[in-house]
Amino acid sequence: MTDKKLPKDFTWGFATASYQIEGSYNEGGRAPSIWDTFTRIPGKIADGSSGDVATDSYKRWKEDVALLKSYGVNSYRFSLSWSRIIPLGGRGDKVNPEGIAFYRGIIEELVKNGITPYLTLYHWDLPQELHDRYGGWLNKDEIVKDFVNYAKICYEAFGDIVKHWITFNEPWCISVLGYGKGVFAPGRTSDRARSSVGDTATEPYIVGHSVIIAHGYAVKLYRSEYQSAQKGTIGITLDSSWFEPYDNSKENIAVAQRAFDHPIYLGYYPEALKKMIGNRLPEFTPEEIAVVKGSSDFFGLNTYTTHVVQEGGDDEFNGGVKQSHKRADGTELGTQADVSWLQTYGPGFRKLLGYIYKKYGKPIYVTESGFAVKDENKKTVEEAINDTDRVEYYHDYTKGMLEAVTEDGVDVRGYFAWSLLDNFEWAEGYKIRFGVTYVDYETQKRYPKQSSKFLTEALRVGLGSN
Ligand code: NOJ
Repeated sequence: MTDKKLPKDFTWGFATASYQIEGSYNEGGRAPSIWDTFTRIPGKIADGSSGDVATDSYKRWKEDVALLKSYGVNSYRFSLSWSRIIPLGGRGDKVNPEGIAFYRGIIEELVKNGITPYLTLYHWDLPQELHDRYGGWLNKDEIVKDFVNYAKICYEAFGDIVKHWITFNEPWCISVLGYGKGVFAPGRTSDRARSSVGDTATEPYIVGHSVIIAHGYAVKLYRSEYQSAQKGTIGITLDSSWFEPYDNSKENIAVAQRAFDHPIYLGYYPEALKKMIGNRLPEFTPEEIAVVKGSSDFFGLNTYTTHVVQEGGDDEFNGGVKQSHKRADGTELGTQADVSWLQTYGPGFRKLLGYIYKKYGKPIYVTESGFAVKDENKKTVEEAINDTDRVEYYHDYTKGMLEAVTEDGVDVRGYFAWSLLDNFEWAEGYKIRFGVTYVDYETQKRYPKQSSKFLTEALRVGLGSN
């Protein structure tokens, strides 16, 4: 094991998102987002809940900043609610000064406490009005202009003190889960999406394309009008797992490779995707290629797990790849989480960091990584705060990252654990807990779990003690 440490200025902290923590959905001038509407459709959220109250962070944000401070972080990643800033969302619509003041207050408090803000502009809560007005992400020409307008307002309102911008969180989830499988807002299942190979789904690809283009133009605006004065960086956060081949066969090694390509860095769609989706995949115009290519100063990576993959899967949205946790020789990856898609497997994280750096050559910020302990929701507070599986996860992941940086020379600049608090876990409601802080949803009291202590200590000593 290495005794080298991470650089002193290594970014580390926790991540959250507006709809998952804020609550106060109808206060402070906020108008509904597509998640307010979606959570009201019976059967869509596992426990029938919503983000109406969440962790009440709209009111308890000072307490949350104090918690961050007590954990010794130097950074915090959170997202802005578009419909708090521009309630109806569009170019001609009114900006809400209360919304701006709310985020300005958090940002200033963070900076006062020596915590650097990392701001995500879009973590899935589209103003409902834009969806109703013209179809939201389905209408590229309108939504791109409205997103760029929203981004401009944010650069102007916060750019003097915010130096780290992330345009979008996880375009794959926005498009596939929201418009393909229908399990996220706005709950569309495309025209005839059955999420299987040979499908005829078009909407997820239209939406994905709009998101990529909106990102590109928001970055273009930042670079041309704000970057040199504000001296910040801007990029996007993509989600990727590490893909481990099921066995050593040529096909399965190739399958594990094809999952990684991304147009944000290439300026075009990967060949394998084009072949599979055919003319359902929108084409980039020459202007769009120029705007998208190289449109990220860094690689924002959300990663949670490793999948064992083999040829022959029937889910188009996973690249037609079969996923499991078991290799051909019967070995498993690691400890199982409370959600089927997640296991602990630190070596996969190390390999993923190496792969991305080699392929894209950009500094990497791990903008999310975290673990949901099995049946944590059924435990008492005393049991839940003793979250040994989550500690094991962070132990393995921080070790994997340290090795990637100090042994493999990967340029990782930061690590944000998901999440500061247990919170509203989208379609799973409050059943699944990802926090390093336990939240009692009755009283809204926060209880630090063991994992928060582990991370504080591990990162404080620069990960060198693992
Ligand atoms: C990624 C998403 O960005 C976040 O919102 C979500 O809660 C975590 N994954 C855990 O599923």
